[in-house]
Amino acid sequence: MNSKNPSDNVIRLSDRMKRYDMKRADAPRTGRTTVPRVIAVTSGKGGVGKTNIVANLGYALCRLGKKVLILDADLGLGNLDVLLGLAPKYNLSHVLMGEKSIREIIVEGPGNLLILPAASGIQELTQLTKQQKVQILSELDQVIDRVDLLLIDTAAGISSNVMDFNVIAQEIVVVVSPEPTAITDAYALMKVLALKYAEKSCKVIVNLAGTTQQGNEVFRQLNLVTKRFLDMTLDYVGSVLFDANVTQGIKQQKLVSDLFPDARASKCFQELARKVIAQLPTQMPNGDSNFFWHHLIENNLS
Ligand SMILES: Nc1ncnc2c1ncn2[C@@H]1O[C@H](COP(=O)(O)OP(=O)(O)OP(=O)(O)O)[C@@H](O)[C@H]1O
Ligand SMILES: [Mg+2]
Repeated sequence: MNSKNPSDNVIRLSDRMKRYDMKRADAPRTGRTTVPRVIAVTSGKGGVGKTNIVANLGYALCRLGKKVLILDADLGLGNLDVLLGLAPKYNLSHVLMGEKSIREIIVEGPGNLLILPAASGIQELTQLTKQQKVQILSELDQVIDRVDLLLIDTAAGISSNVMDFNVIAQEIVVVVSPEPTAITDAYALMKVLALKYAEKSCKVIVNLAGTTQQGNEVFRQLNLVTKRFLDMTLDYVGSVLFDANVTQGIKQQKLVSDLFPDARASKCFQELARKVIAQLPTQMPNGDSNFFWHHLIENNLS
């Protein structure tokens, strides 16, 4: 049933979460002491630097000893592989067609980053059916226990594809730039997450900041309106400064963190990676990750 009143959705979802908590208490344990963190990186406005952040943050996390898998969830227009100079033979479209398993399409990028490539130019993938979403998540379930972090690079906007990937993550990081249009679009995205999906918290990264102070100020503004109008808490992860070396790296299909480790953007990514590790996840499934995924698969997808 598709409700027209957003508050109905909130009630339905909180009901599900109660059932989830009850089931979770009985869930079998895998024996792992830590569960993989699933972090969606998203934005209202396009082109604010999500893919670049996911790739460099993933790289920096690998350098800190974490095993990181990146899912390119910009399904119809994936370009993470291009950014990393990879030319994968297979991608998620092969998984959806039943030709390959997720494990078979994983490719290795710089610094041992693991990548799940999306297809580019396949329009059907931008509007997945519920069955296809279930298929992707079920397959992900089989590889997720092998990594410390799964980073999801979503498409821009508030389509159901984007929202579903945000909802299945334990943490949502919203990327925003100092442009007024990026700030209003980030707020619009958070509003949908709060009202329609009952999300209680988001993390924020300000990209393309001229200075650290400007990044702080953008977060302050966003936090002010969110506090006033939404039932949502924002946590600031930090900023990435504008740096021409980023574009230089993209032209060479290499990560700025790899090519110019001392560049100011690279330093920002190192700092962000330390903060991500230090900050507690916003929601943790507390035990068996498979159970977490299956619950979400059954109940939360549109
Ligand atoms: N910190 C930065 N300094 C300088 N340029 C940057 C920085 N971050 C991103 N860019 C530029 O912004 C462009 C867009 O970045 P990116 O592709 O990561 O955005 P995106 O949010 O993933 O876009 P889309 O919404 O289309 O997926 C890059 O090609 C790069 O040139
Ligand atoms: Mg992108």
